[in-house]
Amino acid sequence: MPSILKTWPAWPEFGIPSKDNVQDPCFATAKAEVIAEYGEEALYQGWVKTCRNLQNTTKEIALLGSDVVPVFEMNSIIENGGLTNEQQSKLRQRGCCVVRGVLSEEEATTKYLDLKQYIIENRDRIMGWPVGSPSIFNLYNSSTQVSIRTHPNQIILQKALNSLYHDSTGETSSDPLSYTDAARVRPPGQEFLGLGPHIDAGSLCRWADKNYRNAYRQIFSGFPEKHDIYDLGARKEANQHMFPARAHSCVFRAFQGWTALTAASPSCGTLMLYPNVPDVIAYMLLRPFFAPPADESDVMDATKWTFDPASDYFPGTMVDQSQRLSVSSHPHLRLPDCMTYIPKINPGDTVWWHTDMCHAVDPVHNGMEDASVVYIPACPTTAINKDYVRRQLHNALIGLPPPDRIGVDLDERTLKGYKGFDEVSGEGKRALGFGFV
Ligand SMILES: [Fe+2]
Repeated sequence: MPSILKTWPAWPEFGIPSKDNVQDPCFATAKAEVIAEYGEEALYQGWVKTCRNLQNTTKEIALLGSDVVPVFEMNSIIENGGLTNEQQSKLRQRGCCVVRGVLSEEEATTKYLDLKQYIIENRDRIMGWPVGSPSIFNLYNSSTQVSIRTHPNQIILQKALNSLYHDSTGETSSDPLSYTDAARVRPPGQEFLGLGPHIDAGSLCRWADKNYRNAYRQIFSGFPEKHDIYDLGARKEANQHMFPARAHSCVFRAFQGWTALTAASPSCGTLMLYPNVPDVIAYMLLRPFFAPPADESDVMDATKWTFDPASDYFPGTMVDQSQRLSVSSHPHLRLPDCMTYIPKINPGDTVWWHTDMCHAVDPVHNGMEDASVVYIPACPTTAINKDYVRRQLHNALIGLPPPDRIGVDLDERTLKGYKGFDEVSGEGKRALGFGFV
């Protein structure tokens, strides 16, 4: 089974600004603020160290392929009362994992058929993306989604995942809150180039928002090796929605995730991950401060790049989209060698990846059946997440879409077959925020 793509797809490249590129002044402001706060010397130290680390990181990922993604069983997590120390350590290191059997295959298949029927019965009303032949549907509270989101195994697992983070202030907890996201039913044969290598949780706000960039202060200070990707205390007040857009979530997702309703395998509509967080996020954050050498043969030598305080170009950064990465703009990441297919997934399995992990949607689907998932992340209890979940539930109860799903106009309560939240358990209701409204 292939771990990487044989041919790199026609995903957008960000090596040089397009001719009609006009940047909002907020780019130059953000850059100037970071330089004023940390200085050229610190940024340069961080840059050289990070590029050096990436030499080993990328070699290891290319060597291990899909085996680099840890695989756990839900049954053992239940038996052990959470992730064992060894599992935690593997997950901590890779920033991603597959957890099998969160739902039984039979349960997942039934829920997939329910979802498909629901979409068919309401076909004229449920919109999605891409517009012409939608596979990601603007649908948030179907009975399939609500029941999986509040499934007892999901709650146990999300708590275990949230527990990897720490917060010395004691103002947060690992108790899961439920973020309401979309569902996907991708038919066989459908190409999809809309989500190449990218990192969610905002884009320019990582530099522009004072709280957000403070979460990365070790990277900007020249000590990327000290950056702790599990420090919730540093991250909990970051404003991911500084530049509101459909691509950005308000909530902090400790791990993004999906639950498979059908099987998914490489080249059949699955997911690709770059199974490293610390080096990739440091590289992405430092990249706008350096310009490549004139001689292309020197590109992989970080010391030949020059400090570039004047340009306002942030490669792959657009205020209304997730942070994009590309081969030409981010050469040290060696994306074609490191964008790794997750292992084969069965109905009821789940995959989880750290909030700062680069990932991409499989550009092709050469399988014979739909590739269907529901997007369900693990979100800890923080002030921002509580506030969002309260507003999200308020909206759902009065027939409005989730607050950060800008542009969606559908009262799901009026869909044929809508069930609402009456059948949700007490602990499920807690995760949905019923205690907050
Ligand atoms: Fe994404």
